[in-house]
Amino acid sequence: MKQLTVKDLSAEEKLRLICSDGRWHTPDLGGKLPRVAVSDGPIGLRKENIYEDGRVETVPAISYPAVQSLANTWNAECARLMGEALADDCIENDVDILLAPGVNIKRDPLNGRNFEYFSEDPYLAGTLAKAYIEGLQSHNVGACLKHYYANNLEYNRLEQSSEVDERTLREIYLKPFEIACEAKPVSAMCAYNRINGVYASENTKGFRILREEFGFDGAMYSDWEAVRDRTAACKAGLDIEFPFNQANYDKLVEDFKAGRISEEEVDACAARVLELAYRIEAMRKKRKVQRTKEERHAVARRLAEEGIVLLKNEGVLPLKKEERVAVSGSFAAPERCSLVAGGGSSMVRVDGTVFDLPALLRERMRGEVRYEAAFWTTGIVSNCQKPHKAFMDAAESDVAIVCVGTGADLESEGGDRERLRLPSVQENMILEVARRNKRTVVVLFAGSAIDMGAWQDEVSAIVWAGFCGEAGAEALADILTGRVCPSGKLSETLPLCYEDTPVFGIYKDACVARYQEGLDVGYRYYDTYGIPVAFPFGHGLSYAQFDYSALKVKCSKNTVQVRVLVENTSKTDGKETVQLYIRPVQTFVYRPEKELKDFCKLALKAGEKKEAVFDLGEKAFAYWSTGVDGWRADDGLYEIVIGASSRDIRLTAKIRLEKGVFTLL
Ligand code: BGC
Repeated sequence: MKQLTVKDLSAEEKLRLICSDGRWHTPDLGGKLPRVAVSDGPIGLRKENIYEDGRVETVPAISYPAVQSLANTWNAECARLMGEALADDCIENDVDILLAPGVNIKRDPLNGRNFEYFSEDPYLAGTLAKAYIEGLQSHNVGACLKHYYANNLEYNRLEQSSEVDERTLREIYLKPFEIACEAKPVSAMCAYNRINGVYASENTKGFRILREEFGFDGAMYSDWEAVRDRTAACKAGLDIEFPFNQANYDKLVEDFKAGRISEEEVDACAARVLELAYRIEAMRKKRKVQRTKEERHAVARRLAEEGIVLLKNEGVLPLKKEERVAVSGSFAAPERCSLVAGGGSSMVRVDGTVFDLPALLRERMRGEVRYEAAFWTTGIVSNCQKPHKAFMDAAESDVAIVCVGTGADLESEGGDRERLRLPSVQENMILEVARRNKRTVVVLFAGSAIDMGAWQDEVSAIVWAGFCGEAGAEALADILTGRVCPSGKLSETLPLCYEDTPVFGIYKDACVARYQEGLDVGYRYYDTYGIPVAFPFGHGLSYAQFDYSALKVKCSKNTVQVRVLVENTSKTDGKETVQLYIRPVQTFVYRPEKELKDFCKLALKAGEKKEAVFDLGEKAFAYWSTGVDGWRADDGLYEIVIGASSRDIRLTAKIRLEKGVFTLL
């Protein structure tokens, strides 16, 4: 087929081209050009088959760990693997573009979609999203970077305006998009909300930043039904509206005829939709499924293994083979493994995979493993079912494991959570079990922070399972029994309570969400103001022990190389994520106490030593200056801070930056 340009199309065709075809396709203009098929992600493929009689059926697919769990791996290789495996799922189902990943910042732990997002930190979110996109696109399936931008709550998301100052936008909310754009996603999706009063779908300034500053060269989609005025959106640079909306299309045609929008303006969008169609056609030719379903399940398992976080362990884990274990809580063996997932457009239909932690523990243990669901959850209500049996089992066992959490009833697109605490039935369950067994382990299935204040001190161990996907039970069983050494770390702070969060009490009504806390998001806030937290950003325990030493900082003109030696001093093989933060010591603008600038996950056999190496440029020291409308690294003193978490600082070194030259002090 000859490749068409906008010159080959009539005005009517171009108007049609920028308005999509149905829910999940770009128009092919009567077979004149390749039709592009898009489907949801990011956790697995959620493809809808729409039949002629109107029936809609979701295709079963592999459920990978939710993005929060992926981020807890702190491993770009894991993100790349997930992208690669997802590409196979897409190829098998004739999907050209996966509507993923989303890089919105976790500003508020109650956001109903946090499980779909990476982190409270823009560098971690951007870096992992970039690897995810690279994985997907290297296997010739397109990515769609979403939701652009400042969409950080579900509450009234279609109308509410995020009111954010320019510096905060640049440093926190736009930053992950900037980093992810380095992977050249073929498309991006605007958010529903307004930004400083202007709809994301009509945000000329936002689209200009994305294209001209971040180098985005793909097609820009609307979020589904996010367009209010197709003409205004087209003028701003929104290339294609999804799904097809007859009224919006008719109005666009009318506006065009009345001269309210020019042919050049339509051309700019139409040209990018054409370019997308041909880019996808070229990718299609190179596609080949590279992993079997079993191999993709193994990817899901590897990601779950690395994404599960051991939050607390007072000697009870790993379980000893001969110990008798009492498992309770319906999350241990939900009827469908999609129950240990969040809800909404990212919810995968999982068929044929059984999520049964007690059964897997039985395979691994010699001691008896009892299981009693004891409660189940619907909405915010949890109901008890034979709790006394579970309590008796706990009393009679060496170790009690209570599996609690949220699931799609409490965490879902379209609404936010009402509170950070677990339903009281679950909290009571933990307390009752812990009262009967000192060696109680809580396993948490959730996609966003949980306030554990009511029971955290009463139990011996806490494992953050997250929404760990269809292979999560296998990963958990291996971690609980010590076959796999836990290596996940928190990609978001777990605060003590909602009242302690930087967004508590901050102005919000149906029209406006004021981001008054500015740069003080997540650990930037807790660490600057010394607020105690339950578990800090970057925290995660291991069965191994790691010793940090020999920090070497080499300054050469405008770069800084940092090396640190990490030794596994234990008898257990493990993995450790070394985090590099920068702490400005003396500055003339406000800066958070410290900010993550790099990280590195090392696999270390028992007794092994390895060096983590980081290369920093001036960019790592810069802030967005509203004085010069650009990035700027001020002369002054900075501290290189090496941590095992944002609150477990192992080594530091001071350097000076003067007229673009770094020197070690
Ligand atoms: C969500 C998007 C999703 C789209 C298509 C919207 O409601 O915000 O993330 O890709 O629906 O399902």
